[in-house]
Order: sequence, then C-alpha cells, then structure tokens
Amino acid sequence: MTERLKSKVCLVTGGGSGIGEAICKRFAEEGANVIVADINPESARRVAGDISAAGGKAVAREQDVTDPDLWNSLVDGIVGELGSLDVLVNNAGIGVIMPIEQETLEGWRRMQSVNMESVFLGTQAAIRVMKGHGGSIVNISSIEGIIGEPLVPAYNASKGGVRIFTKSAALHCAQEGYGIRVNSVHPGYVGTAMVAEAIGSMPPEQGLAFQQELLTRIPLGRVAEAVEIANTVLFLASDEASYMTGSELVVDGGYTAR
Ligand SMILES: NC(=O)c1ccc[n+]([C@@H]2O[C@H](COP(=O)([O-])OP(=O)(O)OC[C@H]3O[C@@H](n4cnc5c(N)ncnc54)[C@H](O)[C@@H]3O)[C@@H](O)[C@H]2O)c1
Repeated sequence: MTERLKSKVCLVTGGGSGIGEAICKRFAEEGANVIVADINPESARRVAGDISAAGGKAVAREQDVTDPDLWNSLVDGIVGELGSLDVLVNNAGIGVIMPIEQETLEGWRRMQSVNMESVFLGTQAAIRVMKGHGGSIVNISSIEGIIGEPLVPAYNASKGGVRIFTKSAALHCAQEGYGIRVNSVHPGYVGTAMVAEAIGSMPPEQGLAFQQELLTRIPLGRVAEAVEIANTVLFLASDEASYMTGSELVVDGGYTAR
C-alpha cells in the first residue's frame, strides 16, 4: 500500500455499489479518510464496514444527490467533523434503456436530475468549502457523454452535460485561483449492477444479442472491472494530476477509438 491520498478527506457519492464502491476502497487503500455516501444507507454502511475491517478509514452517510439541502448539510458536516473536504467524486447515477420515441418527460427529467443536476449541486457545494485550500473534483461521465447510443437518449444527454459542465467549472476555478481541479472520467462498459439491470430490462433475446454484439465492439474484448475505473479516478484525485483540470479521461478498452 502506498499513500497517494494520505490524510485527504474524500466524499464519494453512490459509494455503496459498483464503481463507487471500488473508488471508496481504492481511496482508503491509499490512506484517504472516505465518506461513503449513497441513497441506500445499508450499502453505504456495508462498504464503510468493509473498509474499516481492512484497516482503512471510512464513514457511511445517507444522501440523495438530487436534494440541494442535503448537499449543503453533508458538506458542512464533513468540514465540521473532519476539518476539510479535499476530494469529491460525483459518481452516483442511474441508467435506463428508453429509446426516444418511448421516453417520457418524467423519465427524461429524472435522468437529468440524478445524473447531471446532482453534479452541478455537488460541484457548487464542494467549491464553497474547498476554495480556501484547494481540492479535486472528479465527475463520472461515460463514453455515452461523448458518443450517441440510440437506446439511451436521456442518459446520453445527462452524461454529455456532465462532460461540458466539468470544463466550465474547471475554468471558473482556475480563473478565480482557487486551486480546485475539476475533471471528468468516461468509463466504457463496466460489469456492475447498472449494466446488468439495463440488459435485464430488455426482452431476453435482445439482451443476449446486445451482450454478444457489445463484446465485438470493445477492442480489448471484455468489459471493465470497476477497479480499473477507480484507479483512473484515484490518479485524478491525487496530487499526481496537479496539472490536470478541465480534462476528460476515457477508460473504455478502446471502444471510442474507432
Ligand atoms: N457501469 C457502467 O458500465 C458505467 C459506464 C459509464 C459510466 N458509468 C457511471 O458510473 C457511475 C456508477 O455506476 P455503476 O455502474 O457503479 O452503478 P451502480 O448501480 O452499481 O451504482 C450506482 C450507485 O448510485 C446510487 N444512487 C442511485 N441514485 C442515487 C441518488 N439519487 N442519490 C445517491 N445515490 C444514488 C445507487 O444506490 C448505487 O449505489 C454512474 O454515474 C454511471 O452512470 C457506469
């Protein structure tokens, strides 16, 4: 174990499963003090418990990222209890397969609220408490924020919004001299509950065909493991990425290289 995040206070949203869980665990392995936030308090407690059992530092917090008041109380509570907030990873998200002709306005708005507005709320709250001493904000977008996929128009829009919002926030923080870096990460397909549920929502034959075709579209021939995304987030969160802001790191097995 090295200590690339030694003594850094790191908040990870959606930390109770999948990519967020892997980020929390990698951060803790590198000496971070991790706040595992999730709308599902049991899963947040499980991840924090795993980290503590392994000798790391973590606490669980229940949070719905769409709630502006909860953002402010969470961030202020962290600063009050732990002295600062050094890293925020805006990871929480949902993925729903719904082609444009079937999408509803309600479904569209829910997607933008959870995946994109939450990133605005979190980034704004983090800047407020980080601007005295600097920090790193990492926003989890997707390859679906760079290229289109006809099955997920609302998801595409939300992740594209996260991508360009990240650059805007990064430029603002640089211009103000806050020492806050803001970057986005764009995973390809990762073997998490989100992808399993999305494929499970398709008729069985369509789901199987999608999975088979998917592998042919990934040059490395496999989906990612969550820790492979977490390692990239770790780099951006750490001081090793001190000259990176407003950038987008693609981690997709070559999917978008064609
Ligand atoms: N899995 C992939 O292939 C993939 C690819 C690209 C990007 N992503 C992105 O990575 C992020 C994590 O996805 P994952 O695959 O780990 O999914 P996941 O479903 O395994 O985990 C998402 C977590 O977010 C939490 N969450 C959902 N809504 C929330 C809310 N309103 N407030 C707080 N927490 C909430 C869930 O409880 C869950 O713990 C998402 O932003 C997703 O869009 C995933």
